Parts: sequence; structure tokens; C-alpha cells
Amino acid sequence: MRKRLLGVLPWTVVLGLLPAGAAPSVPEATQRFEVTASRYKFDPARIEVRQGDVVELVLRSADTDHGLAIKAYAVKVAIPKGGETVGVSFVASRVGTFPIECSEYCGSGHKRMKGEIVVTEKVQ
Ligand code: CUA
Repeated sequence: MRKRLLGVLPWTVVLGLLPAGAAPSVPEATQRFEVTASRYKFDPARIEVRQGDVVELVLRSADTDHGLAIKAYAVKVAIPKGGETVGVSFVASRVGTFPIECSEYCGSGHKRMKGEIVVTEKVQ
């Protein structure tokens, strides 16, 4: 009994110390973000995920018509005024920092309505 415990314990400890996502058997995570668009910002403006994650964005506008575009991922979705939510999802396959832009003209600050998505390398 004692011998068996000693054989099992170290592995349990080692696995417990691995950061989440490090074990090869762990499936890619779905990362869900609720993003509110308003004149002239996205909240949150910065989204961080791991390469391979499924990114699920739930978008709504707090005022007028906006849009969300991530050219690097061919994502473009209109966010209607009125607060109705719209969803879009994609796989964060490329590592890097990519701009998020408002894709619907929403006023004088439209061009500076930006965010970014940061995709970090998957831990092998
Ligand atoms: Cu918001 Cu253009």
C-alpha cells in the first residue's frame, strides 16, 4: 500500500503544477467575451487568447450603429443600435496582435474607434 502510494503521488503532483492548457490532451478552449460598442470605443478594447482558441464574441451597442472588424481573421459584423446582441466566432489560428476596427460609420470619432486582439503562442 505504502509502495503504491509513493509510485502514484509524484505524477499527481507534477500534473497539478502544469499550467492549464499545457497537457496535450486538453482540448482547445472556447473563450467568450461580451463586448460593448459605444461612441467611440469597444469595452473591453483588448482581447487576449491563446492560439487555437475558439473566440466567441457577443457584441452589443450602447448607442448607435457600430460594427466590428478584424481583418486578419476576415471577421466583420454589424452591431445594430438598440442593444440587440450579435455573435461571431472564429478560431484564433494566427499568433500576433491584430487591430479591431469599427466597420460602420458612427460619427466623428469613428476612425479612432479601435481595439486589438492579442493571440499568444500555444504552450506545447
Ligand atoms: Cu463605431 Cu464606427
